Amino acid sequence: MLHFNRPAVLSIVLALASQGVCAEIINLATPSSSLVLDATEGEALKILYYGSPLTQGDLDNLQQSPDLHHNAYPVYGINPQAEAALSVTHADGNRTTDVEVTGVSRSQSDGAETTTVSTRDKVYPLYVDICYRVRPGYDVIETWAEIRNMEKGPVTLNRFMSGYLPIRYGNVWMSSLYGSWANETQLTEEPLPHGVRMIKNKDGLRNSHTAHAEVMFSLDGKPMENSGRVIGAALCYPGNYKLFVDTDDTDFHHFFAGINEENSEYHLKKGETFTTPELALTYSAEGLSGASRNFHRWGRDNRLHAGDKERKILLNSWEGVYFDINEEGMYGMMEDIAGMGGELFVMDDGWFGVKYPRDVDNSSLGDWTVDTRKLPNGIDGLLAAARRNGISFGIWIEPEMTNTVSELYEKHPEYIIKAAGRPVVKGRGGTQLVLDMANPKVQDLVFEVVDTLMTKYPDIDYIKWDANAPIMEHGSQYLTADNQSHMYIDYHKGFVKTLDRIRAAHPDVTIQACASGGGRANWGVLPWFDEFWTSDNNDALQRIYMQWGTSYFFPAIAMASHISAAPNHQTFRRIPAKFRADVAMSGRLGLEMQPRDMNDEDRAVCARAITDYKQIRPIVQLGDLYRLQSPFDKKGVASLMYVTPEKDDAVFFWWKTETFMNQQLPRIPMAGLDADKRYRVTELNRIDNEPLPCEGKVYSGSYLMANGLEMPLTHKVDYHKNSDYSSRVLRLTEMTND
Ligand code: GLA
Repeated sequence: MLHFNRPAVLSIVLALASQGVCAEIINLATPSSSLVLDATEGEALKILYYGSPLTQGDLDNLQQSPDLHHNAYPVYGINPQAEAALSVTHADGNRTTDVEVTGVSRSQSDGAETTTVSTRDKVYPLYVDICYRVRPGYDVIETWAEIRNMEKGPVTLNRFMSGYLPIRYGNVWMSSLYGSWANETQLTEEPLPHGVRMIKNKDGLRNSHTAHAEVMFSLDGKPMENSGRVIGAALCYPGNYKLFVDTDDTDFHHFFAGINEENSEYHLKKGETFTTPELALTYSAEGLSGASRNFHRWGRDNRLHAGDKERKILLNSWEGVYFDINEEGMYGMMEDIAGMGGELFVMDDGWFGVKYPRDVDNSSLGDWTVDTRKLPNGIDGLLAAARRNGISFGIWIEPEMTNTVSELYEKHPEYIIKAAGRPVVKGRGGTQLVLDMANPKVQDLVFEVVDTLMTKYPDIDYIKWDANAPIMEHGSQYLTADNQSHMYIDYHKGFVKTLDRIRAAHPDVTIQACASGGGRANWGVLPWFDEFWTSDNNDALQRIYMQWGTSYFFPAIAMASHISAAPNHQTFRRIPAKFRADVAMSGRLGLEMQPRDMNDEDRAVCARAITDYKQIRPIVQLGDLYRLQSPFDKKGVASLMYVTPEKDDAVFFWWKTETFMNQQLPRIPMAGLDADKRYRVTELNRIDNEPLPCEGKVYSGSYLMANGLEMPLTHKVDYHKNSDYSSRVLRLTEMTND
C-alpha cells in the first residue's frame, strides 16, 4: 500500500521585501524523499538536498549551509573548469552562459504536479526552464530542461543534459549495467573513482545492449539489496545518451545525464525550444530493491503502456522455425500453444515480400505484403486459425528498416540514412539499411505500416517491433547540410512522433520493443510499448543474470522471458524443462521453440508452468519485487520474490546457479512479507516424487523473513530424471483465521 499524506510540493516563500527579491525554497516531497531547491530570483537555481523526507526544522537548517549548495542545472562559461549540464554558443559567438531565476510556476496534469523554475541568461534572451514533475504517491521525481532561444539568430547547443545531481562524497558505489548482444544487462558494482566514470551509447537506435541509461548510487558502501540509502537515476530516452559522474576535488560527486551531445550539436532557431528527455530520479532507504520497486511502481502506473494490464502467455515462432514460415507450420504451432494453455501466438520474421520474398535476412524489409507462397490464406487465414484455437494472434515487423534488395528501396532510395557522396554502408544480411525517421515522409510510411496492418486486420493483438541495425553512417538525406548534426536527435523526434500517431490510432494493440534482442529496454520507448524483448539469448542460466540486471530498473511485466529448446540455440547448454520454466516464470512468461520437438514429459512441464503461472501472474506482473540473493555474488544460488502490495500473496523463486557435490548453499531469508501475517507454502511446477518438508505448512512472515526455508540441493525424482539443475517456485498465501 502506498501512503501519501503530505502535500506533493511544499514551498516557503520568503519575501525579502527590503531587497525586492523573492527567495523561494521548493521542497519537492514524495512519500519517502525530498528534493529541495532554492529558487531565489536573480540568482542561479540551487539544489540544497536530495534524500529522506525533512521536518520543517531540518528544512530551515538546510538554508543555512550555503557551502553545500550547488547550481541545480550548471551552465557553461563562467568558471569554465567545472562540468556543465548546458553549453551554448550564442548567436553572436559568445560561449558563456550565466542564468538567473526569474520565477517559479506550477501546473497540474493527470494528477501530477510540475514545478517549473524559469531562468534566463543575464545578458542574452536565452531562457532555460528547469522542470520537476512529482506524481502523488510515487517516489520518483522527473526532471528535464526546456531551452528557448529568443536571440537575434540561431544559437548552438553544444551540450544539453536532462539533469544534474550532486552526491556527497563518502563511500558511494555505483551499480550499472553493461553487456552485449545475447549477454545484455550484466551488473557491475564499483566504488566511484576519482576522475570521470562515463556510461554512454552511440548506436543511434539500440541503446541498451552494451550499456544502460540507468544507474544506482548506494550511499552507504557496497550495495545491498534490502537496506541502505540508494539514489537511482533512469534517463528516459531511446537514443544516444551519456551518463557521467565527475569526482573532482570538492566534497561531491557530480552526476550528469542526458542525450549524448557528441556529433549532435543542435542549432536552435530564433523562437525555437529544445526540450530534453526526462531524467527519473528516485531515493530509497530500502536498498537497491527499494529503488527498483520505486521505478517499477512509477513506471507501471505512469510510463509503461498499459502497465496495469496483465500480459498474455505466448508462443513466438522465431526459434521454433526461424524463416521457415508456412501455413501448416503456423497452424500447428497455434494448436500446440493453445493445447498447453497459452493465450497468444506470434509469427516472427519471414512472412512477407512478394517481388523479393523474405527467406533469409538479406531482403524485403519495407515490403510488408504477405508472401502467399508461404501463406496462401494470408493473415486472414492465420487469424481464423487463432480464433479456432481460442487464442490471439501477433506479428513481427521491422518498420524503421529496409534492404537494398526490396521494392521500397527501389522506389525510395532517398528515404535511407546515408552520408552524401559515399557508397551506402549496409548491415544485417549484407543489405540492411536504416530509414531516416527525421524525414516526415518516412514517418508517414512507418505509421502506415502499422496502420494498414491494424486497419485491414483489426484482430491482430500483438506486434513485435524489431530494429536490427545501428545507424551505420552519419548522414541524413532529408536534413540540410548545415543541420547534419541533428541526425541522431531528429531521428528520435520522428520516431516518437510516429509512435504518438500509432498509439492515438491503435491504443489497444500490445507492442513489444525488440532491437536485436534487448537493444531497446529503456524508459524512453515504454510509453508506447507494452514490453521489451530482454535478449536473443534464452539460455535459462544466463537469463538469471540478465533478468536480475534488468529488474534493477524495469518491472517483470515488461520483461519478456521465454522457455526455449534444449540444447539452447545460443549457448548449446542442455537445461531441463523445469529449470527453464522456473526462470521464465519470473518475468512475462512465453515460449520460443517448436513445441512439436518436445517430448511428452517436457510438454507436460511447460503446460503445468503455464497453468501455475496464471495463478501467480498478478503477483509477478503487478507485485513488488524483493531481490534476495544475487547470482552475481557467486554463492551458487540466486533468489528473489514478488509480493502483492497488500502482502497477502507472494511467490518465491530459487535457482541453483552451479552444482558441486555436497556444496554448501546459504539459506535465503525472505523479504517484503508482513511479519504479523501467516503464510501457507505451496510449491509450484513441482516435479519431485515427494513434497518438500515445508509443503502445506504455515509460517509467520517474521519467521520467513528472519530465516527463510530450507531448500534441498537436488530434486527427488526417478533416477533417469536426475540432472545438475535444481530450482524451486513457492507460493506463499496468507492464511486468514476464518
Ligand atoms: C532479431 C530479434 C529476434 C528475431 C529476429 C528476426 O534478431 O531479436 O528475436 O525476431 O530478429 O529476424
